[in-house]
Amino acid sequence: MAVERPDLHARVATRREQREAESGRRLRREVLRRDGVRCEVANPEGGSRTLLNFCSNDYLGLSQHFAVVSALQDAAARDGAGSTGSQLVCGHHAVHAELEREVADWLEVPRALLFDSGYAANLAVLQALLGDDDLCVQDRLNHASLIDAARLAGCRLRRYPHADVEGALRQLRSMAECAAMVVTDGVFSMDGDLAPLRELAIAARVQQALLYVDDAHGIGVLGAEGRGSVAAAGLDPVAVPLRLVTLGKALGSHGALVAGEPDLVDHLAETARPLLYTTALPPPVVAAALAAVRLARRDHWRRERLQELTARFRARAERHGLQLMPSDTPIQPVLCGSNANALAMSASLERDGYWVAAIRPPTVPEGQARLRVTFTAAHEPAQVDALADALAVARDRAADPLPNRMA
Ligand SMILES: Cc1ncc(COP(=O)(O)O)c(C=O)c1O
Repeated sequence: MAVERPDLHARVATRREQREAESGRRLRREVLRRDGVRCEVANPEGGSRTLLNFCSNDYLGLSQHFAVVSALQDAAARDGAGSTGSQLVCGHHAVHAELEREVADWLEVPRALLFDSGYAANLAVLQALLGDDDLCVQDRLNHASLIDAARLAGCRLRRYPHADVEGALRQLRSMAECAAMVVTDGVFSMDGDLAPLRELAIAARVQQALLYVDDAHGIGVLGAEGRGSVAAAGLDPVAVPLRLVTLGKALGSHGALVAGEPDLVDHLAETARPLLYTTALPPPVVAAALAAVRLARRDHWRRERLQELTARFRARAERHGLQLMPSDTPIQPVLCGSNANALAMSASLERDGYWVAAIRPPTVPEGQARLRVTFTAAHEPAQVDALADALAVARDRAADPLPNRMA
């Protein structure tokens, strides 16, 4: 009998055409050289341009800090490039243990456990704690890794409207018989606003559910010593038994830690598949992260600088009538509506020397394409002013495409 399966090449081609029609193609840009906020970026049609980067997550400006880079170099010279094994075999070096202790001390929690990435850590937490009969209640705007994590865990995933604590409570009450987690971003990655953590902690406590906060964008940036959104909300490890902090954003390196109560963290260390079945982070990367954590704790001026830049940008962008979102963090999205509009504005900014990537569905809801502007402590106030002005020009050019074409 002849086999007639759907052809995967044909499917891929159809999907690509669909993305093309919806201005939804996603192409990587090649960074040839980076010096702080300046990036030399390859043009797809040849040659390159130096752009001011306003879309990185290097919030504290630590990724090229001398102390961070030299810690990496020293560790590479001492330990080599790779960890040579999974954490439970031979990949857990002294520097890994030191970083875990430093982060636990920083966050004032009993335990912290290192993962290869925030994505892997989120998969690990939900998979290790939840099974088929359990409930995972999540904010509708949570990061994709948390949604994927719930799907992989096989639990029942229920999403509540953004920041709607009553909605979360309703979901919890509707399944009062099963073990449950409430899961939220601390700072929403594409919107920049904060989760109502204090209220969610109360809802979770009343419903005997476990609250897990993904603080990928809050760590280093918010709270005393940059301890993040949980600390900024005045919550302790009893209220938030587990939280995620990532090292690839404000800490300028790579990897992530899950921090919190010892029984839960120790359970993850022994059972989490994304930790067991992968090679541990390279020691030089961990050494770099450790240096960055120490700087993040100490350098308050970096957080103050971010607040100044954010307030300055908002004031100027509002004067230009740009459509901002209610965010006080260094994530300042400018709403563009359609995908085509977001792409046109991003291209216009690039022509003027700025790099701000267009963020489109499915990363954000349909009709809410945006330019996700981000600041780092390495930006200058004058650069932020100039960006706000360039955004207004980009909006006007996108609204009037003829002069845009002729420009
Ligand atoms: C909210 C959130 N959680 C998790 C992640 C994943 O972290 P990582 O880049 O370390 O995999 C990201 C970023 O990509 C994020 O924005």
